[in-house]
Amino acid sequence: MKTKEKWESGLGFVFAAAGSAVGLGNLWGFAYRSSEGGGLAFLILYVLIVLIVCLPVLVAEMVLGRSTASSPFIAPIKAAGENWKPLGWLFAIASCGILSYYAVIMGWTIDTFFHSLFIGLPSDMNEAGQFFGKISSGNSVFVGQIISLLLTAFIVLAGIRGGIEKLTKWAMPLLLVLLLLLAFWASSLSGSWEGYTSFLLKWDPSQLFDKSTISNSFKQAFFSLSLGIGVMVAYSSYLDKRNHLPKEALRVASLDTAVGLLAGLITFPIVMSFGLRDVVSESTVGTLFIALPTGFANLGLFGRFIAAVFFGLAFLAAITSSISLLEVPVSSLMDKLKWSRKKSVWVSTLLIFIIGIPSAISTDFLDRSDAICNTLLILGGLLISILFGWIVPNRYDEDLSNSNSNLRVRRYLKFMLRWVSPPIIAIGFYLTLVSTLEKFV
Ligand code: PHE
Repeated sequence: MKTKEKWESGLGFVFAAAGSAVGLGNLWGFAYRSSEGGGLAFLILYVLIVLIVCLPVLVAEMVLGRSTASSPFIAPIKAAGENWKPLGWLFAIASCGILSYYAVIMGWTIDTFFHSLFIGLPSDMNEAGQFFGKISSGNSVFVGQIISLLLTAFIVLAGIRGGIEKLTKWAMPLLLVLLLLLAFWASSLSGSWEGYTSFLLKWDPSQLFDKSTISNSFKQAFFSLSLGIGVMVAYSSYLDKRNHLPKEALRVASLDTAVGLLAGLITFPIVMSFGLRDVVSESTVGTLFIALPTGFANLGLFGRFIAAVFFGLAFLAAITSSISLLEVPVSSLMDKLKWSRKKSVWVSTLLIFIIGIPSAISTDFLDRSDAICNTLLILGGLLISILFGWIVPNRYDEDLSNSNSNLRVRRYLKFMLRWVSPPIIAIGFYLTLVSTLEKFV
């Protein structure tokens, strides 16, 4: 049997995992969800959920991949027996589901990028509505969706070292530099301070107990960290024992949160200084594809240039996430059916394209798929924490002690995974399930 591929370096793994985490969810979800009324309360809840609840689960997901050296479909069975087979299915379904509509949004991103460069952007709200209508309907959506899926497929086809690691190694640093530059530029806009205070820093303590703010924080934390869906299992199965997982999980989570914040620091000043406030919380995609293009257009030719940088960067962030989503079914097919990487990539990509057709046609469908998949992610996180907190806690401990993790850190993580994560995630899951079901009645 061929030996399994490995990451070239520990840093390569961190960049790839952070690349998966940093994506459209940071650029679009973070701004949208924090503007839905939560403000600072959302931010606080989100950070607490990431630090207290998600970090131990992120380490657990990495342990699941590394200790079994198996794909997300097989890993739960290897770790805890046949009873855990449904978790593998959940990983496969959720990752294909997310990629099916994620590729559609990537397509809109490409379209907006081209409009910034060659055609022009909407100059007021009327035009903005039409603009979004144009990029989100008709044949151009399919073109964008197909280009995004093909690019994703080509990178995954080139394998872990030759494709995923090679791309994320330069894309992530570039992304950070561009984001910092844009945030710096946005801070010089006239409404910048007002933008920060009326969205990110808006303080209303009652929001801390608001059901939809709490559920939004959970959704954002899990989606943004790519948690509960097998991505980290897939990536970690290519690790060797040396990597210090708790430290790497912390790096991934910090980078991801920093990018979410940076995106807010870019978005809100633009939204505020061009009076686009109401657009932001109106629809899930309002900020990214309606308010931002209009804001940029108000700055003339220079604005179009900045818009091209922003949407180019958004696409880059998205593709480092989409490859991780595709790697879940691909590695699972390779593992379970012993298919070649090539066959697994093309079969998965075709299937995902077909599942994504309704989302390409209807933004309503897309919105619902997003709600369902977010709920599945949180359920996945809950099951992983139960798996390692209660069913096979020794595997967690053993794997971490093999890589010389500090005893105190290990004890802390084990405690959190057993006693803290499961009940808190269960609450998040319940609230999110209810809000998802509400979308269907
Ligand atoms: N974390 C990615 C983002 O923020 C999306 C994603 C979710 C990627 C789940 C992989 C798994 O855009």
